[in-house]
Amino acid sequence: MNQPAVVEENKNNVVDVEAPAYVRHRRLIEWVQRVASLTKPDRVVWCDGTQAEYDRLCEQMVAAGTMKKLNPAKRPNSFLACSDPSDVARVEDRTFICSERREDAGPTNNWIDPKEMRSTLDGLFDGSMRGRTMYVVPFSMGPLGSPIAHIGVELSDSPYVATNMRIMTRMGREVFDVLGEDGEFVPCVHSVGAPLADGRKDVPWPCNDTKYIVHFPESREIWSFGSGYGGNALLGKKCFALRIASTMGRDEGWLAEHMLILGVTSPEGRKHHVAAAFPSACGKTNFAMLIPPQDLNGWKVTTIGDDIAWIKPGKDGRLYAINPEAGYFGVAPGTSEKTNFNAMATLKENVIFTNVALTDDGDVWWEGMTDTPPAHLIDWQGRDWTPELAKETGAKAAHPNARFTAPASQCPSIDPDWENPAGVPIDAFIFGGRRSTTVPLVTEARDWKEGVYMAATMGSETTAAAAGQQGVVRRDPFAMLPFCGYNMSDYFGHWLKIGERLEALDAKAPKFFCVNWFRKGDDGKFVWPGFGENMRVLNWMVGRIEGTASGEEHAFGISPRYEDIDWGGLDFTRDQFEQVISVNDAAWRDELALHDELFSKLQSGLPQALPEAKAGMEKRLAA
Ligand code: OXD
Ligand code: MN
Repeated sequence: MNQPAVVEENKNNVVDVEAPAYVRHRRLIEWVQRVASLTKPDRVVWCDGTQAEYDRLCEQMVAAGTMKKLNPAKRPNSFLACSDPSDVARVEDRTFICSERREDAGPTNNWIDPKEMRSTLDGLFDGSMRGRTMYVVPFSMGPLGSPIAHIGVELSDSPYVATNMRIMTRMGREVFDVLGEDGEFVPCVHSVGAPLADGRKDVPWPCNDTKYIVHFPESREIWSFGSGYGGNALLGKKCFALRIASTMGRDEGWLAEHMLILGVTSPEGRKHHVAAAFPSACGKTNFAMLIPPQDLNGWKVTTIGDDIAWIKPGKDGRLYAINPEAGYFGVAPGTSEKTNFNAMATLKENVIFTNVALTDDGDVWWEGMTDTPPAHLIDWQGRDWTPELAKETGAKAAHPNARFTAPASQCPSIDPDWENPAGVPIDAFIFGGRRSTTVPLVTEARDWKEGVYMAATMGSETTAAAAGQQGVVRRDPFAMLPFCGYNMSDYFGHWLKIGERLEALDAKAPKFFCVNWFRKGDDGKFVWPGFGENMRVLNWMVGRIEGTASGEEHAFGISPRYEDIDWGGLDFTRDQFEQVISVNDAAWRDELALHDELFSKLQSGLPQALPEAKAGMEKRLAA
């Protein structure tokens, strides 16, 4: 069995980091040394990414009370971790972009002068790993060695992070082979930042009331303090793959986006790829794993990614996308065999669940998993839960932002090209939000600029994925509001530039669509059935891409008429369709006024093309 490379106990507050012989990267070793000297862990373990190492860390966490092993007969090799109740979601108000110049972070990001932030972090991280082990976690975002992939190394005092990173990324020893002696990597430092609870004893889920999730875009560094929650602590995901990578993309001419990627194959065998951006907890995982209704003969959807896309121009000028992740960190509540059969199949084994409920026979449950809940559960906070109690008090068995971490390779709908180092060519971008009114089921932008406008002005009702009030409409441009590592106006400009380059090269440019699955009727219920039925909308989009489907122009773009959609097998009336597709002029005048609010916030550096696109829409609306 592989033994970890253990460095001597930290008796004198000096940690000697003896890297394994296969690590040949001096600069990296010196950095690990510096961070260890600052954070003063008891030991340093260089993770090799093996199954044996993963099993050992899980065993340790079970012994420490951080995780429970689930019943192997029900859920083989799977665990449940329950977090501190204060540490359940991303903390956007504690997330900082510390660029040299404030204007480079822009008005939608929290900014603190990098010098001041470094001094704060020096204080917080000084001795923050005392009594704990520091794990050196090497990882590749994207297939190892892919020209679209990039490498990171996370130093973390959380074994939960080390194990989750093994599922979510290509983690382990091979990464050092790719890095060689001086390869580029993004340095990521993470500490739960909690003092040991009782002498040398740790609490099951250590964290700190003080939280800092900090990005230094110029030096491409990440420092995260005080939280063990995935989005704040698995630094490959939001921090690297979106915030830092978006700045890399700006500088190098590519895109890092909060998008799922799927392949859609027609009954005749023609395949297209789309990348779709929805805000957190708005169904990206469900859409990525969609199973078409049987009555739509022979359509097939295959999954490349469910959350993040890195998109680079290929030799032919077209845009190629990879999923930089290797696993799904998905929202559990609402996931069921009916809503997402493929996700449920992915979750059969080798899963880490966080903040779901425990059944009496050692399995997991969450709201929406089955129509009838079990008669008794232990809720995510370790308390008894019954359906009666839930009726009386509204108590949730699982936290609304409870998560699963599962290997992508276990997904039945995984696309054969999901690990293709060259990526897949993108034919369309889809943008969508959660809007109970106003925004039609689907609209195609007439050109790239109008598409950028659509995506830039996207609004959505907030969800439990971030701490804070839920259900209020906020503008979430490109679903990137919490994830863009630089000035949002410059980001719009970057998207426009990418479009201009495609045009100059005469390369095939993806189409833009805007969707909304969430329109509600007068009874407050969703009108559109969603889930697998979204295939009907996808089907229309493919028709638009291939130039075979018709639609009707309105002020904001092109939407299908009732007869442009294949309704085979679905009883959805013209009247219902009208409720989800209609454009109400008065509502849109109000909506456009709200876009102005966004534009005035982003005034400095806002590309002229956006107010121009808006003026065009207003004119059409008036006509
Ligand atoms: C996520 C999120 O975890 O967007 O994917 O919050
Ligand atoms: Mn996400």
